[in-house]
Amino acid sequence: MSTVKIAIVFYSTYGTNQQMAEIAAEAARAAGAEVRLLRIAETAPEAVVNSQDGWKAQVERASSIPVATPEDMEWANAYLFSAPTRFGQAPSQLRAFIDTLGGQWFTGKLANKPVSAMTSAQNAHGGQEATILGLYTTFLHWGAIIAAPGYTDASIFAAGGNPYGYSHTQGKEFGDNEKAAIGHQAKRLVEIAAKLA
Ligand SMILES: Cc1cc2nc3c(=O)[nH]c(=O)nc-3n(C[C@H](O)[C@H](O)[C@H](O)COP(=O)(O)O)c2cc1C
Repeated sequence: MSTVKIAIVFYSTYGTNQQMAEIAAEAARAAGAEVRLLRIAETAPEAVVNSQDGWKAQVERASSIPVATPEDMEWANAYLFSAPTRFGQAPSQLRAFIDTLGGQWFTGKLANKPVSAMTSAQNAHGGQEATILGLYTTFLHWGAIIAAPGYTDASIFAAGGNPYGYSHTQGKEFGDNEKAAIGHQAKRLVEIAAKLA
């Protein structure tokens, strides 16, 4: 079996999605994958970032993690995205990165690879499902293969029951249930990528 190379790409303003990506990275490594944990570059003006202590702290917290590039997208044979909900959509920072991938799309470099997504929102029903499904629309344009968790493990029910991808409510702890659901999503992605390789 050839090695699964998974790009775990996150954007986070306050740290939630970085935590989710890190939990997923640990699970993907435990499942035997080679993992690149990658952050989406911040595009908000420095003055805006620095006007909020939480945002400024997150920029510093994430600074040692490499920024995702189109080359990473070519390298990987599976993708896991994690990003917060912004008015029911993915954040512009992530969309800006996606919008640099026209060349990779055109040359088929994003096709036939399994992909999955996670999100968080302030409210329990704040648009998480819409955010994930919106990303999946884009991944369908790539010809990627959506590897949503569905209800393939008991951990999904215990973590809130979102079959499209793990979704978090901001401020909640990452307890055993949350970690298990994220871990299951990452492991399932690795297993599907291995089957496709
Ligand atoms: C511009 C903006 C729009 C947001 N829109 C929503 C929303 O539609 N629903 C919701 O529940 N939370 C919303 N939030 C809250 C974020 O989803 C929340 O801060 C995020 O999930 C935390 O993730 P992070 O720590 O990785 O940044 C919004 C936050 C911002 C700054």
